[in-house]
Amino acid sequence: MSRLDQSHHADFHRLNASLAFDRRLWPQDLAQSRAHARMLADRGILTSADRDALLAGLDAVERELSEERFAFEQGDEDIHMAIERRLTEIAGPVGGRLHTARSRNDQVATDLAMYARERARAAQTAIAALMSTLLARAEEHADWPMPGYTHLQRAQPVYLGHHLLAYFWMFARDHGRFAFAEHEAGRLPLGAGALAGVNFDIDRGQVARELGFRDVAANSIDAVSGRDFVLDYLGAAATCATHLSRLGAELVLWSSSEFGFCELPDEWSSGSSIMPQKKNPDAAELLRGKAPRMVGHLAAMHGVMHALPLAYNKDLQEDKEHLFDAVDTLELTLAAATGMLAGVSFRRERMREAASDELIAATDLADLLVRLGVPFREAHGAVAGLVRAALERGAKLSEMGADELAAHSSVLAAHASEVQATLSQSSWLESKVSEGGTSLERVREQLRAARETLDRARAG
Ligand code: ARG
Repeated sequence: MSRLDQSHHADFHRLNASLAFDRRLWPQDLAQSRAHARMLADRGILTSADRDALLAGLDAVERELSEERFAFEQGDEDIHMAIERRLTEIAGPVGGRLHTARSRNDQVATDLAMYARERARAAQTAIAALMSTLLARAEEHADWPMPGYTHLQRAQPVYLGHHLLAYFWMFARDHGRFAFAEHEAGRLPLGAGALAGVNFDIDRGQVARELGFRDVAANSIDAVSGRDFVLDYLGAAATCATHLSRLGAELVLWSSSEFGFCELPDEWSSGSSIMPQKKNPDAAELLRGKAPRMVGHLAAMHGVMHALPLAYNKDLQEDKEHLFDAVDTLELTLAAATGMLAGVSFRRERMREAASDELIAATDLADLLVRLGVPFREAHGAVAGLVRAALERGAKLSEMGADELAAHSSVLAAHASEVQATLSQSSWLESKVSEGGTSLERVREQLRAARETLDRARAG
């Protein structure tokens, strides 16, 4: 089998073997082997009888794997060697011909690129489902007022639809990042051999077409040593997970008694083992808690690639666990976010009540002064003084009398009825007429744009 005559130290085998995690690549490995065998026969490198024997053997191996009765052996180092061993047991010595014009180096890069491509596509589908749910919930709640926050302090009122759409756009960008990751995994490594190309007149284009690659990798050294398509997936996944964590964090806050803005669906919440009154937002907390691990996978993969001499090095085997865990975590958390959002019920009254805190109209009052000719900085100072005075005497802004207004701004005092109109709730929201703002007309415009973006994401 190799030039070494000693059997491996048991711990070396444990360190070196990747079968425990790369066995999930068996569908890609079989598809690749079939395409490779067909191409070799078409080029006259294998006979058609050999090809047919290999294809029949691969079918038998596939049945064992898909029915979960494939017997892995102690000595199987990785999925590629396990499949080849079993193929040779089933088909006889012809099994050994499959590796003609192929190295495990281009083989593993090809399996992984196929896998990354599929999962990048799956991520786009899952993100589109989340975008669709966000859009539906935003449409339903387009005109529900709630406080918008900065520093987690009530800042300016917005519509709930507007707030939900903020997430829609984040995930729309994530969708684009996964489309890019899919594109980047679209060049076929196979045919690069160990690193320099192979000694046979193969047809890489044929294999690429059969396996759905849009092109062949242009350089054999790059083909076996490049893993930036993994970095692209992980980068997209890390950003998406970070977005999910913000959504999760808000659901945790909003479902607390302190906020009381929403009630999470029972199927996405847990009870407490000791406190019977509790309903815990575990799924939302895990959206928050899983994000750093995704960023960790990205950082770790950069670490693996950093300063790695060309071409293949065993370090590259580390690509898989980072990618696989990121895929599993991302797909699960996207499904959880979509499920939770579909089932969450928002509390209109609680949100309205929080949004009717007049202090959050302070900016609007300052802007009223600006429209009346006062420079913004001066207006800001006058309103800040008025807010302080109102808080000191425990009054609302609308309860401040003419002399109190006059103490801070003669202009405000002279326009008391406009002050009152500005302090009525709907005016704070409806005055945000700028493009991308929270006025209902702008939100409706945004809903239309979001619908078009979703349709395009689904078509692409
Ligand atoms: N299990 C290996 C990996 O995942 C396959 C490639 C092995 N190639 C080699 N030259 N040892 O990277």
